[in-house]
Formats: sequence, C-alpha cells, structure tokens
Amino acid sequence: MRKKIVAGNWKMNNTLQEGVKLAQDVNAILAKEAPKCTVILGTPFIHLADVVRNVDNKLVKVSAENCADKEKGAYTGEVSAAMVKSTGAEYVILGHSERRAYYGETDEILKNKVDLALANGLQVIFCIGEVLEQREANQQNEVVKAQVENALFHLSAEQFSQIVLAYEPVWAIGTGKTATSAQAEEIHAYIRSVVAAKYGNQVADDTTILYGGSCKASNAPELFAQPDVDGGLIGGASLKAEDFHGIIAAFK
Ligand code: 13P
Repeated sequence: MRKKIVAGNWKMNNTLQEGVKLAQDVNAILAKEAPKCTVILGTPFIHLADVVRNVDNKLVKVSAENCADKEKGAYTGEVSAAMVKSTGAEYVILGHSERRAYYGETDEILKNKVDLALANGLQVIFCIGEVLEQREANQQNEVVKAQVENALFHLSAEQFSQIVLAYEPVWAIGTGKTATSAQAEEIHAYIRSVVAAKYGNQVADDTTILYGGSCKASNAPELFAQPDVDGGLIGGASLKAEDFHGIIAAFK
C-alpha cells in the first residue's frame, strides 16, 4: 500500500524563530490527534536541525526544499545532500517549478541532485508539472512524462521506491486556481501509467503521487478522494498550523 502524505513547502518564508514556533504548533495539534497520513514539513535549510529537534519524529518528518547538484567542495553558498541528511531531515523536495523557472534547474541538473539525495539516504519529493501555455495546448501529458523520464528513469526500481512524485501544475501554484479533482485524477493516473510502463504495476501502485497548487482545507477532501491522488504538497496553506491541519484532516 502506498503512503498517503501531506507535505508543507514553506518556500522562503519564516525566520528561524517563526519556523520553530510553526513546527511546534503543528506538532502540538498532531500530538492531540494522530494524523492518518505521513506529515512532512519542508523548510528552508536554516530551519532543518531546529525543526527536527522540536517535533516528534513519529508525527512529523522533515524535508529540505532543495540540495546541491555537487557532492562537496568549493561551491560557495550551496548545501549538499549529506549536509541535509546530517540535520536529521529525511526528505528533500527537488525539481520544484520555482527552482526550474528562477534558478535554471534543468533535467540534467535535477538528475544529479536526485542521485546525490538518494546516495545520502534522503527520500525525494520530485515535482513535475506543466505551465499554462502547455496546458492550453493540451501538452501536459508529454511535459510530465519527459520530466519524469529525464530525471528519474535511470534509477533502479529499488531506488525509484525512494521517490515521491508531486504533480504541481504551475498555473495553480499560488494563484488560488486549483486543478479540478477530475483534472488532477486524469493526470495522476497518466503519471502512474508512465511509471508502470517503466517499472511495472507493483512499483507504480506503490508510488505516492501528491497534488500541489492552491490546495487548502476546503478542496483537499475532494482532491484526496481521487484514487490516484495520494495527498498534497502545500505552499501557502502550510504557513499556519490551523490551515495546514485542516488539510491533514482530509484524511480521516
Ligand atoms: P501553493 O499551495 O501556495 O499554491 O503552492 C504550492 C506549491 O508550490 C507547493 O510546492
């Protein structure tokens, strides 16, 4: 059975103190009522070690939002997968559309990041998704297929089992415009079929595929009820403990 996951992606928000408080608040809510899914907090690098120390690992897992495409050395300002792992974080988000669009992350770069993350024992939340013009041209399937193939399909089936996919249509991120549950289901099922064609039905069945893009407490139940939508990757609504909990509570 594949894992159900609700993961926050704080992006570039929260000072260290604000982030620790938010993590403590999420943890306190979940301590009262254990979540019915895996809950992950994706935080900036500077928060990782403190957030790990401030949550109960049985209730809350911690993720970085990125890692370097180089192992170590003279890369000023970069943070390696090994460094992320050493904080106690268990996951790393890679391939977010903001990294692709604003920081020029290509499939080739992402492939290196994925390899380094896995080699250092991190699980990867790998983001894919089309931009508006591609959706309007009905190219979304070929876009996500190429993103998955180019950065992930060199992995062995065993390595691929450490990957969580996150379908995030770029036109839905931070826009208040969500994919309909039918649109989400259609493309999630397609993504699963792409995985099945490469790794077989068992691996595809076991792959968690999250939806991301203006997901909130009000639309999460319908989205997560779709057979191929296994949870969400949450931006804006992960920045307040109550809002984030409202989404986690969609899994009853
Ligand atoms: P929003 O939930 O703010 O639309 O962001 C989604 C996202 O990019 C998560 O990675």
